[in-house]
Amino acid sequence: MKKILLATALSMASVSVFAAACEATIEGNDAMQYNLKEITVDGSCTEFKLTLKHVGKMPKAAMGHNWSLVKTADVKTVTAAAAKAGPKADYIPAEGVIVHTKMLGGGETDTITFALDKLEKGGDYTYICTFPGHAPIMHGKFIYK
Ligand code: CO
Repeated sequence: MKKILLATALSMASVSVFAAACEATIEGNDAMQYNLKEITVDGSCTEFKLTLKHVGKMPKAAMGHNWSLVKTADVKTVTAAAAKAGPKADYIPAEGVIVHTKMLGGGETDTITFALDKLEKGGDYTYICTFPGHAPIMHGKFIYK
């Protein structure tokens, strides 16, 4: 009886570890920084849940943050197009952003869940904040292997 209980406990533990690899929480602050330099997604995940928390106090118009996933090769074009798209579009250009959260101000949080079949395993992806001037500092590697 004890062995059976132990086996059950172990399999439950591995389920929770597995689930943890298919989601992440990242923070942005008033110093224009993310708290993660990379996010790794396990290849066994079919979808990914991303939560962005703006842990600062500044308003969206002054220190807006989003989490936008792009191909690394597209970072420069997306960044330029985002500035042109402007605040009405929440600085999301018509092309190049694969998925994104809302643009947040201090104290706000947004969670998105997206299917990973949009991505190629081993592809070169980067997440950025598309608020004007932020991407050179607010960026990280998105690793899907
Ligand atoms: Co930002």
